[in-house]
Amino acid sequence: KLNVKVGDLKLRNPVMPASGCFAIEYSEALDFNNLGALVIKSVSPKSRAGNPTPRVAETPSGMLNSIGIPSKGLDYYRREVLPPYTRYDTPVVVSISADTVDEFAQAVAEMSLPEVAVIEANISCPNLEADGMAFAMDPDTTYKAVSAIRRHTSHPFWAKLTPNASHVAVVAKAAEEAGADGIVMGNTMLGMSIDVRTRKPKLGNVMGGLSGPAIKPVALRMVHQCYRSVHIPIIGCGGIRCAEDAVEFMLAGATAVQVGTASFIDPGVMQKIIDGLHAYCDEMGVERISELTGQVKLD
Ligand code: DHB
Repeated sequence: KLNVKVGDLKLRNPVMPASGCFAIEYSEALDFNNLGALVIKSVSPKSRAGNPTPRVAETPSGMLNSIGIPSKGLDYYRREVLPPYTRYDTPVVVSISADTVDEFAQAVAEMSLPEVAVIEANISCPNLEADGMAFAMDPDTTYKAVSAIRRHTSHPFWAKLTPNASHVAVVAKAAEEAGADGIVMGNTMLGMSIDVRTRKPKLGNVMGGLSGPAIKPVALRMVHQCYRSVHIPIIGCGGIRCAEDAVEFMLAGATAVQVGTASFIDPGVMQKIIDGLHAYCDEMGVERISELTGQVKLD
């Protein structure tokens, strides 16, 4: 009932973690064999320490983070990080982040391993460049990055877009034309918070990505705009914390969904969402959850 197909990839259900909001320790709270897919925190080909602390700040309307993609490089990732995720009967999605188009292309080629089902290209991290710039803020830079990645892998790959783009439908179209197999909509919204007593920014990197329920209506709207703009599947992401949220994203046009910030509050939340989707289908007489994609009633 909950089976979905994201392109050629069959998933047992549409629920998977958002990159960076999931780690192998979650196996204590969840059976990884029940999830739709396993999505790992972005790795960058270049080793990096990450951003100055504090890297996380809570605000009344959501979580801010500026982790900065800490990385020990691709060899370490392949040897130490990836293997424990590949022991389950669940497709593994490797998220890659990079500073340049060439680095992206090379990293994607290197990570196109048989044990990797999908590559997610994080072309939308707000924390690597000054002022939160990212490839996916602009259709031309999106096209360049995605087409270079496409030339370097025959694996399925998803482009992760950002709500920090002014016209996401055009960016999504550029990603599709450049050869992406799917779109993840989206990443965090660039935000900031200040301690009024010390007058210091609450994040060491000054700005960071806002996540959680605050961004849900924005992400939902953007999923719908992408759905109107492209034919490749869309994976919805942004503030999802219950089954009804997941259904909303599917009605707006998503084929599958990613759960991020909610897993920090309840590490078992993805199983509750899966159970809730079963209950929704039973209650509403939905035979297959895949029927919901794009079925928002507009008149
Ligand atoms: C980081 C990456 C992201 O894609 C994001 O949305 C937030 C933080 C990071 O590691 O800095």
